[in-house]
Amino acid sequence: MTKRSIKLADNTISEEEIRSLAGWLQEGKQLTKGPLTREFEAEFAAYTGTKYSIMVNSGSSANLLMAYSLLEAGYLRNKKVVVPAVSWITTLSPFVQMGFECFLCDSDAQDLGVDLNHLEALLKKERPALLILVHILGHPNKMDAIHRLCDQYGCLVIEDACEALGSEYKGKKTGALSLAGSFSFYYGHHISSIEGGAITLSDDKLYSVMLSIRSHGWSRDVPEADRQAWKKEYQIDDFREFYSFYYAGYNLRSTDLNAYLGRLQLKRLPAIAKVRARNFELYRQALPEFFSQHSPDSFVSSFSFGTFAANRLELSKHLLAQGIECRPLVCGSMGRQPFWIKKFGVTHLPVADKVHDFGLYLPNHANITPEDVAYVAKHFREVAKPI
Ligand SMILES: Cc1ncc(COP(=O)(O)O)c(C=O)c1O
Repeated sequence: MTKRSIKLADNTISEEEIRSLAGWLQEGKQLTKGPLTREFEAEFAAYTGTKYSIMVNSGSSANLLMAYSLLEAGYLRNKKVVVPAVSWITTLSPFVQMGFECFLCDSDAQDLGVDLNHLEALLKKERPALLILVHILGHPNKMDAIHRLCDQYGCLVIEDACEALGSEYKGKKTGALSLAGSFSFYYGHHISSIEGGAITLSDDKLYSVMLSIRSHGWSRDVPEADRQAWKKEYQIDDFREFYSFYYAGYNLRSTDLNAYLGRLQLKRLPAIAKVRARNFELYRQALPEFFSQHSPDSFVSSFSFGTFAANRLELSKHLLAQGIECRPLVCGSMGRQPFWIKKFGVTHLPVADKVHDFGLYLPNHANITPEDVAYVAKHFREVAKPI
């Protein structure tokens, strides 16, 4: 095989889309959040199957907005949250910053979502108000069992679906499987709006609170009925309303420029998800002696192919010499990250530790061909040692 260059992630924005964006820019339209953002939000909600979506400037901002809005809306009976040990820093960091007690949950050995036994033990012992899930590398968690447990213990569920745009559990899209879901449109994700993100949800009250907190805590973007009700409650007159703040908000807004790209990309998302799902299956078939994630009842809009190897460092050097990028299986375990150790000491969890010590991921994106997968698998097998 001749040498190839296979990157972990690739640009999803096409030349045609850039030309189209340049033409739109020259029309001199509004560049801040405006009508295109609202159109993107309506289209994105329709795609995921939720009543609403809220566009923000990153997946991290989406997580921050979910966390703070749930708190401010009075949805949480305590400040205790369960977060998967295998997640992303900004899945966890908003809760750390807001002074929540955070309990790390071990990973399911099949799908690398939350482990049901550990989750139940945490729910029983700590009685947390909230669980945030992460669908690791596109693989949906075991949602039915998770909802059963969380209903039993009165725990709300939200999803960080930043690695799982287009994935489905029993025919329903990730992000629509709980109270609210977050997405990232950063470079290398399923679609990109340069930087960008969104929240999906169907809850009317939470929607209004999120729209307010996204923009400083004012009410300008809030649906009319809630806007008038808030105004009346605090006896705000029409003039004062411009600068009335109902929450100690942020500015997490995106712009119409990002929404313009997002709308173009969204049209191509179903095709992108299919290619990613196909590539995942090809990897699985090509590397049967190595671990691969498995999520029953799911369509996997794969982010990348995650697996384990006993000799990651040697392997990654070998792959790089063949033009193949490879990285650790995202963050490994949060319980082993320097910031966590500094604050709380090290937390050991058996499966999350395995991910931390042996996990890695191989390239998957919309431009990866079956021949690319075969090339990666061939060179992977030359050196990789299963654990
Ligand atoms: C699970 C998860 N959550 C959140 C994020 C953050 O998204 P962003 O880079 O858009 O802030 C990422 C980024 O890769 C992620 O993988």
